[in-house]
Amino acid sequence: MFKPTVTITIMSSLENHFRFLFVLAILIALANSQTDKPNLRVQSNKKIAMFVFGDSLFDPGNNDYVPSSGARVNFPPYGETFFHYPTGRDCDGRILPDFAAAYAGLPYWRAYLDPDDDNFTVGVNFASAGACALIETNNNSIPFEIQVKYLKDVANLLKDQLGETEAKELLERAIYYSSIGGVDYTSFIITATNVTESLVEDYVNIVIGNITNQIKEIYNVGGRKFAFQNVGPLGCTPGSKESFNTTTDCAEALQNIATMHNNALNVVAEKLASELPGFKYLVFDFFNALMDRTQNPTKYGFKVGDVACCGSGAHRGDSNCGSLTTAYELCSDPNEYVYFDAGHPTEACNIQLIELLWNGSTDVIWPVNMRELIELEIETETYSGNDDLLITEQVPADDVSKTQQ
Ligand SMILES: *[C@@H]1O[C@H](CO)[C@@H](O)[C@H](O)[C@H]1NC(C)=O
Ligand SMILES: *[C@@H]1O[C@H](CO)[C@@H](O)[C@H](O)[C@H]1NC(C)=O
Ligand SMILES: *[C@@H]1O[C@H](CO)[C@@H](O)[C@H](O)[C@H]1NC(C)=O
Ligand SMILES: *[C@@H]1O[C@H](CO)[C@@H](O)[C@H](O)[C@H]1NC(C)=O
Ligand SMILES: *[C@@H]1O[C@H](CO)[C@@H](O)[C@H](O)[C@H]1NC(C)=O
Ligand SMILES: *[C@@H]1O[C@H](CO)[C@@H](O)[C@H](O)[C@H]1NC(C)=O
Repeated sequence: MFKPTVTITIMSSLENHFRFLFVLAILIALANSQTDKPNLRVQSNKKIAMFVFGDSLFDPGNNDYVPSSGARVNFPPYGETFFHYPTGRDCDGRILPDFAAAYAGLPYWRAYLDPDDDNFTVGVNFASAGACALIETNNNSIPFEIQVKYLKDVANLLKDQLGETEAKELLERAIYYSSIGGVDYTSFIITATNVTESLVEDYVNIVIGNITNQIKEIYNVGGRKFAFQNVGPLGCTPGSKESFNTTTDCAEALQNIATMHNNALNVVAEKLASELPGFKYLVFDFFNALMDRTQNPTKYGFKVGDVACCGSGAHRGDSNCGSLTTAYELCSDPNEYVYFDAGHPTEACNIQLIELLWNGSTDVIWPVNMRELIELEIETETYSGNDDLLITEQVPADDVSKTQQ
């Protein structure tokens, strides 16, 4: 069997029927959402693929197939705004990878572990809520390392399906979009006592070191175009405000470690680009984009930035949104909120963020944005870890062309 062994609930044919209608509704809605922004769409004859890695910000429902994971949100009100059904996304609606796919002209994806999702020519989403860069921080969700291992399985399958040459080209043109590290840092700061500056530095280096190793693994599989979403404003989420009992201020220790990580991420991305032939990347400043909305909600058309739509406590930051056993509050209009729950933006917020990811300028995304990263020409190299063995060839970029209107 190609897919990892997981416990899967056999669905009745009725459920399958609803699921089909549900997927159809999503496809139609995404198609409509694309026509809303015709000038942002990438038109390409040969479609690109997108492979997504990460934590709860990016999980489209993989954890629904990971029985050991405590981080599952397969219950209402999750999904209420868009899907009208809990999909396993930590959001009331669509998450950034959903929008990134739609903007790139790709169909809606299901989760990699969804048994019905077996055509990977458009890419796939491996993300898992609770996922960490360090496997020992949380081995119950799907750690980053295992997500990358799944990519290797997919790459082998693509080679079988398409042949070496076509699979190689698909993998080289593809975007590898990741959001990882936030859970490592939150667990570290919340559980550690007496954390000194040098311990924090060591920890960031270990996390960055492990992420770097996995990026190199993806590169060795054939990946060339990396979209790094940096770690968010961990100390400013309703959840952190709740746990650290801050009022309007953010939890400083979390903000510091996130900032340290993000600075290191910039350095390592640039370093990889100088070391690895053909390596292209972008860094999306999710930290500042989200923090600005949290601190200045009205500037962006929101009413509330420091209290979640769903949850309990002063900031609705106790993570019990949707709980059957403890009381929680749910806002009437998530569009007025930056955060849907303790740690995750609303769909309304994601709709603003995708504009920045896709077409933002260098104050929020650098050195290129997603639209530009997709368009970048790729010099393909066969890299076997030995620089003497490099073979360079040029792939024409004309079939990855955009229409600007
Ligand atoms: C996979 O999807 C692509 C694009 O939608 C399609 O062209 C191809 O025929 C599909 N392959 C299989 C094996 O279903
Ligand atoms: C993670 O879990 C897997 C399967 O449960 C196990 O084989 C592996 O040893 C664990 N790794 C760590 C570092 O705990
Ligand atoms: C924290 O560090 C201080 C100074 O190094 C030390 O005196 C104290 O015992 C430590 N506390 C804990 C809980 O480790
Ligand atoms: C990866 O993390 C482990 C701890 O899980 C650490 O011992 C190791 O040094 C890290 N690797 C790098 C390259 O930083
Ligand atoms: C939280 O802080 C407020 C004042 O800032 C204080 O009244 C309250 O007791 C604190 N709650 C906890 C659980 O520490
Ligand atoms: C994309 O961004 C550029 C520069 O930031 C701006 O001039 C252009 O209008 C934007 N395009 C769209 C379709 O929003």
